[in-house]
Amino acid sequence: MASKYLTGVGSESKQLATWYFTFAAILFGAQLLFGLIAAIQYVMPGFLYGILDFSIARIIHINALVVWMVFAMFGSVYWLLPDETGIETVGIKIGKLLFWIFAAAIVVVVLVYLLIQVGPADETTIWFITEGREYIEAPRWADWGIVVVALGFVANLFLTGIKGKQTGIVTVLMADMIAFAGLYLAGMFFTDNISVDQYWWWWVIHLWVEATWEVFVGAIAAYGLIKMIGAHRQVVEMWLWIEVAMLFGSGILGLGHHYFWIGTPEYWWEIGALFSALEPLPLVAMFIHVLYDWGKTQGAQEEKGSTVSVVNNKPAFTWFVLNAFGNFLGAGIWGFFHTLPQVNLYTHGTQFTSAHGHLAFFGAYATILIGMMYIAVQGTNGIKIMKHTKASLWGVSMIVSGVVGMTVALTIAGYVQVLVSRAQMGATWAGYFDGQSGMWFSQAMDWRLVMGVVTFLGFIFLAKDLLTTGKNPVHER
Ligand code: HEM
Ligand code: HEM
Ligand SMILES: [Fe+2]
Repeated sequence: MASKYLTGVGSESKQLATWYFTFAAILFGAQLLFGLIAAIQYVMPGFLYGILDFSIARIIHINALVVWMVFAMFGSVYWLLPDETGIETVGIKIGKLLFWIFAAAIVVVVLVYLLIQVGPADETTIWFITEGREYIEAPRWADWGIVVVALGFVANLFLTGIKGKQTGIVTVLMADMIAFAGLYLAGMFFTDNISVDQYWWWWVIHLWVEATWEVFVGAIAAYGLIKMIGAHRQVVEMWLWIEVAMLFGSGILGLGHHYFWIGTPEYWWEIGALFSALEPLPLVAMFIHVLYDWGKTQGAQEEKGSTVSVVNNKPAFTWFVLNAFGNFLGAGIWGFFHTLPQVNLYTHGTQFTSAHGHLAFFGAYATILIGMMYIAVQGTNGIKIMKHTKASLWGVSMIVSGVVGMTVALTIAGYVQVLVSRAQMGATWAGYFDGQSGMWFSQAMDWRLVMGVVTFLGFIFLAKDLLTTGKNPVHER
């Protein structure tokens, strides 16, 4: 029964998944383009001044980031549901309609950012231009649209999960996606007390990326390992449950590391320090999990005397392994660096934060979602063993070097701010400018731009590969 859906041919759910992936990839490109504009403006402040200011380029860069990832997450779920449950996704017609509503809303929101940009800073601005909450800046009308789309998506997932086979992966996704959608509501109401506003805003931002999105990654990694290297479901799902417990156990109260300096009670220093310091642990577990399963399946294959590689999708698997490394480095290590209040006092809001933000979002999410796109290309084209092509190798190498390069540059810039602006000059106004005008800082900004260009060129290879590799004769069918 399930095998009918394995190739992706004939499953409407999988077709819908490819729509989601396609739109996600386009937004990913837009994200990088606007990141480049913002990076140029750091180096040449007059660039596009008065036409597209830094604030607008930045809004589009980071909101496109969040939205493309959400699209790719929905796509991943629609892709794996028929495989896991053994049935076609329930409510697929509504799912398709909602896709178009979602995509159209995003296009309108971006056009408003570009063409109207700012409003009179009253209720009309909140409703029609931007809500002004970093990362989730969509105006309120779009917020409600997103809620409707998310509810439709969660309903489809639940109806399918209940009707079909309930694997551990599906069960975890059902619980996780309801939390994921529910948390969005915390970023939708407006208070005129900035501390209260930030308090709730972090429920979305932190609890998304450090709890619900990470659990999502655990489930996707489990699915991918079964799919790509034939890992044993029992072993994979056992890991998944351990990871879910650890992620929620540390990630929820780890929220405290954003409550150090926003006017919340001081007990958050201790809570935040303790629980967020534990957050790297599940990431280590996820890392070991991927490498362990890989080693184990490879070993079993060799025992059988087979010399054929056990990986049936090289590019996807490369991105999944990068996810294990990237998640651990970007979120675990770069996160841990600045998570204790004693350290955060100096690093808060510096380029160091940006270094962590880039490596974490890229390492933990971009990687695995690109991996899922490759799994979809493989399935849609009925490929048995998918190999690397020149473009896939150029894509992955340039994107990874670019993002790592940007991270190093931003880490150095952050260091200057910590040492000069904060430690030496005591976080004064003059200290701020001394830090920013230092040679190390400005050179770091140049390098960020160079590495950003490398990342963007890598993206072009990736996009080309995703579009053409399905028909490439190098793959085994
Ligand atoms: C994949 C998971 C993660 C992602 C995507 C992520 C992303 C981010 C981003 C984008 C910011 C900047 C927010 C802003 O604009 O103010 C941030 C801040 C922060 N993150 Fe993470 N993070 C992740 C995991 C972690 C982990 C595991 C830790 C700790 C071990 C951590 C510690 C912090 C801290 C302390 C800040 C505040 C920085 C400041 O005070 O300026 N993060 N994170
Ligand atoms: C072409 C490559 C890229 C360039 C040139 C670029 C540039 C920038 C710039 C200039 C900012 C604004 C920083 C500020 O406000 O001081 C920014 C913010 C950000 N970018 Fe990128 N970026 C690129 C790729 C990426 C990628 C691949 C990701 C993640 C997958 C990402 C995630 C972020 C995040 C999370 C922020 C907010 C950071 C914070 O406020 O702490 N960017 N980027
Ligand atoms: Fe956090």
